Amino acid sequence: MKDQAQSLRLKILEAQSRNAKTIAVVSGKGGVGKTNFAVNFSLALQKEGKKVLLFDLDIGMGNIHIILGRQPEKTIADFINDPFSNIEDIIYYDEEGASYISGGNGLQNIMEWDEEDVERLLTALSELTHSYDYIVFDMGAGAAQHTMEILMAVEDIFVVTTPEPTAVTDAYSMMKFIYLKDSGKQFYLICNRAETEQEGTDTLNRLKQAMSKFLNTEVHLFGVLPEDAAVRKAVTRQVPLLNSYPQSSIVLSLNRLLRQYLAGITTFTPAGKKGFVSNLKRLLFRRNV
Ligand SMILES: Nc1ncnc2c1ncn2[C@@H]1O[C@H](COP(=O)(O)OP(=O)(O)O)[C@@H](O)[C@H]1O
Ligand SMILES: [Mg+2]
Repeated sequence: MKDQAQSLRLKILEAQSRNAKTIAVVSGKGGVGKTNFAVNFSLALQKEGKKVLLFDLDIGMGNIHIILGRQPEKTIADFINDPFSNIEDIIYYDEEGASYISGGNGLQNIMEWDEEDVERLLTALSELTHSYDYIVFDMGAGAAQHTMEILMAVEDIFVVTTPEPTAVTDAYSMMKFIYLKDSGKQFYLICNRAETEQEGTDTLNRLKQAMSKFLNTEVHLFGVLPEDAAVRKAVTRQVPLLNSYPQSSIVLSLNRLLRQYLAGITTFTPAGKKGFVSNLKRLLFRRNV
């Protein structure tokens, strides 16, 4: 009887506890719009009734709090520097928006993490997965050594690029780097700051073809976000786009992407699909074909 009650209790606990999906927003080149995407995508998920934790892993150069217009009292440095601290203590609970952890934006926050620190953080994160539907990591550009372990633990990798050739080649390098460490990762490609939808889909197709041809792996074409002055205005106002410019073209595109993601539709038929390509350079630099 006792055993039965116990197993029932466990079942109820299991049903109650969530199992967060983890997403990392990465890029090769910096300044392509990762943080703006991570913040607004998380807020949009939250508006859909999901419980979201946004984790700023651009350590020492974090700016999620700026975009949210908040001033966090504690950052990841407080957790790492005090081995007896609890991860809950550094989570900022926002009544209207997603909960978040700040990466800190002072040089004093740039720190060396040893193996124990990383392990402690990973353990804390695995516990947090029971309290959230989604944990979204906003990564720094490129591959920082100390956050690599977390990146490799994440399920879905959102790769942000712009149509610029430098951003595209760096996005490819970043995916290759991650892929060679773990070929099981799911990549979702986003082209931000596209002047036209066509420019965006061409950019994503080039990357998709490069991944398929050179690494023999398929990636999801997630979507295109337009160049939109609302982004800069929202950053200046320190009110997230989703709340300050809900009718802007970028927010409409973002909502479309979110619906597709939640419905599991992330690979669209390539617009203007072109024939076979012979080398990476041509693949990545060919524009408006
Ligand atoms: N879709 C866009 N349209 C116009 N400007 C954008 C767009 N996305 C990003 N930006 C600009 O680029 C800047 C850098 O964006 P951010 O999200 O901080 O990039 P990252 O996190 O990749 O470094 C923003 O402050 C904004 O001015
Ligand atoms: Mg950023």
